[in-house]
Amino acid sequence: MEPVRGAGRQMRTGPLGIMSALPEELAAILALVDEAKTAEVAGRRLHRGQLRGHDVVLTLSGMGKVATALTTTLLIERFGVGGLLFSGVAGGLGPGVQVGDVVLARTLVQHDLDASPLCPRYQVPDLGMDELPTDHRLRAALVAAARTVVQAPPAAAAAFGLKQPRVHEGLVISGDRFIASTAQAATLLKELPRALAVEMEGAAMAQVCAAYCLPCAVLRLVSDRADDQAHVDFQRFLSEVASPMSREIISRAVAAWPQPAPG
Ligand code: ADE
Repeated sequence: MEPVRGAGRQMRTGPLGIMSALPEELAAILALVDEAKTAEVAGRRLHRGQLRGHDVVLTLSGMGKVATALTTTLLIERFGVGGLLFSGVAGGLGPGVQVGDVVLARTLVQHDLDASPLCPRYQVPDLGMDELPTDHRLRAALVAAARTVVQAPPAAAAAFGLKQPRVHEGLVISGDRFIASTAQAATLLKELPRALAVEMEGAAMAQVCAAYCLPCAVLRLVSDRADDQAHVDFQRFLSEVASPMSREIISRAVAAWPQPAPG
């Protein structure tokens, strides 16, 4: 894999765009937003307001890479966002990544992108890179917040047998497939051994941000191990554990971010 290019971009003026794939995830974050005004564009409902003193625009990404690329472009072109954050759940892949853990993407790869022999597997042809970077400052704020939040997980976490959730930073992989098979998860890990978690949106947002030279971050709560064991109770986990934890991490991280520099 190539070295990461373009990490650490300066946050520009303009609101922070926040996306989630699922309504429960978005609703939890929306509860933090003051004076939300809504607009409808391209089948998306966008909510503008203030979160811990920062201008934000929140919306559902839609599920999968194309929907997410569309929504990211919309946030940049129509709402002038200066940076983007994706928050949602993911399947844990790495050996130590368990249900309830927090994963912050350092880089993202599209595990289902293969234009070989025209260019190497995973390479995004128009960018000439395979690992798409996230912004180290946004990520650092989220990691610090996550380390605090995992010390006191929601009471409901105990009902899912979660003990002490951990915080991981590294490679997250995205593709247009929900992984729910031990064999598929093993194949992905064999092909991309550093992958911590798998989801369906993050790399698409990161690709658009790379094209626009905008900073981004991806925060994921691990909801399953991407295997064929029936998941505990996905909806309950989402509403009682994952969404409240993500909301608390975002609240603390955004409060700690400096206001963007003008210009
Ligand atoms: N999001 C949450 N769990 C996932 C999985 N197993 N595969 C893809 N996306 C996910």
